[in-house]
Amino acid sequence: MSTQPESLQNAFDRTFAGISQATKAFTPQLAPHEVGQITRVSNGIAAVSGLPGAGYDELLEFPGGVFGIAFNVDEHEIGVVLLGEYSDLHAGDQVGRTGRVMDVAVGDGLLGRVIDSLGRPMDGKGPVASTERLPIERPAAAIMDRAAVNVPLQTGLKVVDALIPIGRGQRELILGDRQTGKTTIAIDTILNQRGKNVLCVYCAIGQRASAVAKAVANLREKGAMDYTVVVVAEGNDAPGLEYITPYAATSIAEHFMEAGRDVLIVYDDLTQHARAYRELSLLLGRPPGREAFPGDIFYIHSRLLERATHLRKELGGGSLTALPIIETEAQDISAYIPTNLISITDGQIYVSPSLFELGVLPAVDVGKSVSRVGGKAQRAAYRAVAGDLKLAYAQFLELETFARFGARLDDGTRKIIEHGRRIRECLKQPESSPVAMSAQIAVLLALSAELFDTVPLDRMADAEHAVQEAATGIPADVAARFETADKLSDEDRKVVTGIARTTLTPFQPKPAPDAKPDAKPDAKPDAKPEAKPEAKPPSPKKP
Ligand SMILES: Nc1ncnc2c1ncn2[C@@H]1O[C@H](COP(=O)(O)OP(=O)(O)O)[C@@H](O)[C@H]1O
Ligand SMILES: [Mg+2]
Repeated sequence: MSTQPESLQNAFDRTFAGISQATKAFTPQLAPHEVGQITRVSNGIAAVSGLPGAGYDELLEFPGGVFGIAFNVDEHEIGVVLLGEYSDLHAGDQVGRTGRVMDVAVGDGLLGRVIDSLGRPMDGKGPVASTERLPIERPAAAIMDRAAVNVPLQTGLKVVDALIPIGRGQRELILGDRQTGKTTIAIDTILNQRGKNVLCVYCAIGQRASAVAKAVANLREKGAMDYTVVVVAEGNDAPGLEYITPYAATSIAEHFMEAGRDVLIVYDDLTQHARAYRELSLLLGRPPGREAFPGDIFYIHSRLLERATHLRKELGGGSLTALPIIETEAQDISAYIPTNLISITDGQIYVSPSLFELGVLPAVDVGKSVSRVGGKAQRAAYRAVAGDLKLAYAQFLELETFARFGARLDDGTRKIIEHGRRIRECLKQPESSPVAMSAQIAVLLALSAELFDTVPLDRMADAEHAVQEAATGIPADVAARFETADKLSDEDRKVVTGIARTTLTPFQPKPAPDAKPDAKPDAKPDAKPEAKPEAKPPSPKKP
């Protein structure tokens, strides 16, 4: 009984001793929290004062969870590009520093998703699963970390794969007027990567929401979303969001590349990106230059596209192939932004509205298109025919104008023109129907063996399709040799042309029954074989 007050006393003593010990041990840390103030807000831009420690490119936090990037860091004021809804911001609102730069969620969890550049889901499928983040602006791979471009990136488009081949790690510009099929070429290329172990990032910048929805629906329907990430900044988003979107998308792609994967990224399109950047620069009071673009517009695109590369084997051997898209006005490819991009990239695919109107689809103007590095990556099986094909086609295009005047043509010229017309027919291709490599090579070999030259023009589409179908009959070992870098042997060539020849027999015009055996079938210029060859009827059975 007498011990109880004592033990209570002890307990108190111990407790107080513990508390005083803890308070002695605790030295309060001063956590500086810099807070500034908005002095001005305008279209997508805020001027902030009172943040002397903020650095260039730092992320600043505004009320309501809006973020902004410090763009102009002056002595007394910071020009901030806002990355979200700014209608609720007022002069005098508090602005906080975050001490970090803008970053984006990366990783496999993004595959199949449609997100904006801040990583917010736009497909209604809940939050994006990701554990890693990367800054959106990263230095491009050093020269010594890069390997040569030596593996082809098959687009599935005959005209591109044969004449303007693209290699993994290459940057190939797609340019042309509006509504000429630029997006279609890029989307078809993504569709063709199915089962080819290439991941894709489709980056839509400043497009109509309906156009993006159509592209996503197309990708989803063809099963391409399994290996694709779509990053979107819509046309009505803040210009700051449009500006950062390609950088964010590139970081997402780079993460895959650094894991040793082959990646394809499409920027659709950089004209809108340049416009968003011009808007920001003008609002920030930077001096306008040519076409009112700021002086560093070249640099913002080159530092973006320099990040596309093929890494050395020691670094995983991944690659990032970039297909930037540029929209020209009235076919003017010498305007400021198109020329910039042409000089930054390794070649361009030019789509022409006049070809589009003529129904030559995809409307690729072969004369104005070039691939500066892809030729080295092109498979030997293509290379065996591509050179002749290009030459024959170029000759044809030059002569075709003459032929339009109804000039009398000699036999040699007429042959070139007839051959060229067949080439053009064979290079046509509807959208969303990529052609496998073996089928492409079968068609090209048949073309260069002049097997199509006697097929009537109006039957070319069917004939070409038949050869494509017949290509499934190419022996597996021969088809496998198409995929290697080895030259096509004469035997293999014979096997393929043999298949094409048999396939094309029903499409050849039948010689007129009264024709003399030695009569030339094409003795008269423009003689169109009238007899429509039908499919061979089965041997008539007599009942
Ligand atoms: N190879 C093709 N075959 C048929 N239609 C095509 C082909 N390529 C494009 N188109 C059509 O042309 C239109 C414009 O194409 P799009 O890719 O959106 O042009 P752009 O991106 O240059 O504005 C679309 O309606 C598309 O369906
Ligand atoms: Mg487009």
